[in-house]
Amino acid sequence: MSIVIAIDGPAASGKGTLARAIAQELGFAHMDTGALYRASAYELIKAGMSARDKTDALKAAQILVKKIKAADMPDDILGKPSLREDRIGQKASIIAAYPKVREALNILQQDFAASPPRPYKGAVLDGRDIGTVICPDADVKIFVTADDEVRAQRRTKELQSRGLDVTYEAVLKDMRERDARDTARTAAPMKQAPDAYVLDTSALTQAEMLSQALEIIREKVQI
Ligand code: DC
Repeated sequence: MSIVIAIDGPAASGKGTLARAIAQELGFAHMDTGALYRASAYELIKAGMSARDKTDALKAAQILVKKIKAADMPDDILGKPSLREDRIGQKASIIAAYPKVREALNILQQDFAASPPRPYKGAVLDGRDIGTVICPDADVKIFVTADDEVRAQRRTKELQSRGLDVTYEAVLKDMRERDARDTARTAAPMKQAPDAYVLDTSALTQAEMLSQALEIIREKVQI
């Protein structure tokens, strides 16, 4: 059985960077599940479909699932820098509220957790519902949080460093909107699992985040 580590948390909490660093440190495979929703939103826009239409959204998710299954390197589809843009994040958050879209994407995530690609001996998944819905039996669950103003500062810096013309105020507003939608939806809302460890990263450097997360993990599993 592969070891599964579930990392959940709101936008720009540092969960993606943390999940990637944990996977690298432990020699585990990593899946950024938000990228599945973002890539579905990308397919939706590309096909001229509407995020407000559940049927369109499901079609977009199905197009993505087909592409990923046919791809040798799914990372090429999910790692596109354009997926990180806020307009894609907003659309991803809208279509992520549709149960059928989630259903279409859940199987990919559960398969990845159960059988990570060789030669990896475990999997780290990050998202919103990993510890609650996708992998409720994960060996370790961490819920990553940070003050929303700190998160908005981090996201603004990240986007500006990639040459995007954004302001802190606009990023904070978008982020609060997205968090509210991700938390309020009925289908698999963003929620801390009762058995998750909470890691507040507001005042932590990336190195500190990683070392605290590894401490939590090593307390729970022998690696
Ligand atoms: O983690 P992210 O910002 O890349 O995610 C983009 C959107 O996708 C997020 O606003 C909500 C949705 N999402 C989700 O509903 N469930 C997940 N497991 C991951 C992301």
